[in-house]
Amino acid sequence: MKILAIETSCDETSVSVVENGRKVLSNIISSQIPIHAKYNGVVPELASRAHIKNINPVIEKALNKININFKNFDKKIDAIACTYGPGLAGSLLVGIMAAKTLSYIYDKPLIPVNHIEGHMHSAGIENSGLKPPFLSVIISGGHTELVIVKDYGKYVFLGGTRDDAIGEAFDKVAKILGLSYPGGPVIDKLAELGDAKKIHFTRPLLKGSWDFSFSGIKTAVLNYSKKVDITDKNVINDICAGFRQAVAETIIYKSFEAAEKYNLKTIALGGGVASNSLIRKMFKVTAKNKKVKVFIPSPVYCTDNASMIGLVAYYKYKKSGFKKNIDSLNPKPSLDLQNW
Ligand code: KG4
Ligand code: ZN
Repeated sequence: MKILAIETSCDETSVSVVENGRKVLSNIISSQIPIHAKYNGVVPELASRAHIKNINPVIEKALNKININFKNFDKKIDAIACTYGPGLAGSLLVGIMAAKTLSYIYDKPLIPVNHIEGHMHSAGIENSGLKPPFLSVIISGGHTELVIVKDYGKYVFLGGTRDDAIGEAFDKVAKILGLSYPGGPVIDKLAELGDAKKIHFTRPLLKGSWDFSFSGIKTAVLNYSKKVDITDKNVINDICAGFRQAVAETIIYKSFEAAEKYNLKTIALGGGVASNSLIRKMFKVTAKNKKVKVFIPSPVYCTDNASMIGLVAYYKYKKSGFKKNIDSLNPKPSLDLQNW
């Protein structure tokens, strides 16, 4: 079964064709980073306008790459999938409208997918060995969540972010330090040049809860940065290293604690922050020591991409069918995780 999947929840216009859930035939991602970088964050109105401009060319590129066009589409594509939340309303709307249009024209089933579920299963794109049950660790720009995946569509939410999401903390700390947007990749790079032992930022472990709170570390960086010379590159590198270390240890401690408590032998990471080099390294080492399997997507599948939407859509279609009343499908900017 070939699914054309569309992802436009934030600032990436992505379209992918995925066969039987896991085989990615094409995955096109058009990033808007240059548009938003000068504002140090995503500007929703600019994001939706860029999606409008990009959506048709990105769909065509994803199809043409595998010799599909609007003449043979009907024969080659079996269903359409799109992200319908959570995310920016205007951005989501563009992807949903494109998906609805294709679904109407070619009379194909339309499968709406939750963006977070995409990140939760994204490590399965390249690893057919990743199957439920597992602990999903979602670390992205908008989310820091621990979820037990009992089966496809059967979830137990353990905890989430109380204030800044992990990626948001990276982006805000970068802004404090005068670094470019998005902050995560820049801090990761500079941290490699610094000494993580020089500055100790507290690890916000919130004992007794599976929730996360990263705004405290961010404020600690702000206070520290006021006392030192942040025009000195070595100082910046050490702050980045100390911050990255504190964040990595926090996420690793809580993830493995949850896996142990719920007797889960597999952990899957997802979300943009899963491309952080220290977090990847530490997860692999800790997993080996604790005899837990860890699945981490390649960086291209950590950040927003339509292939992960195509993967979830396939399992959703097999289990619970598709959206019968297409007209009623609308963006759900605050969509919660739901079972199906
Ligand atoms: O998953 P994603 O593409 O978008 C959301 O759904 O939020 O994640 C984007 C986030 C940004 O906050 C970005 O700074 C962060 O992922 N990020 C990183 C790295 N690469 C991207 N954070 C830490 N280290 C990285 N190497
Ligand atoms: Zn995302």
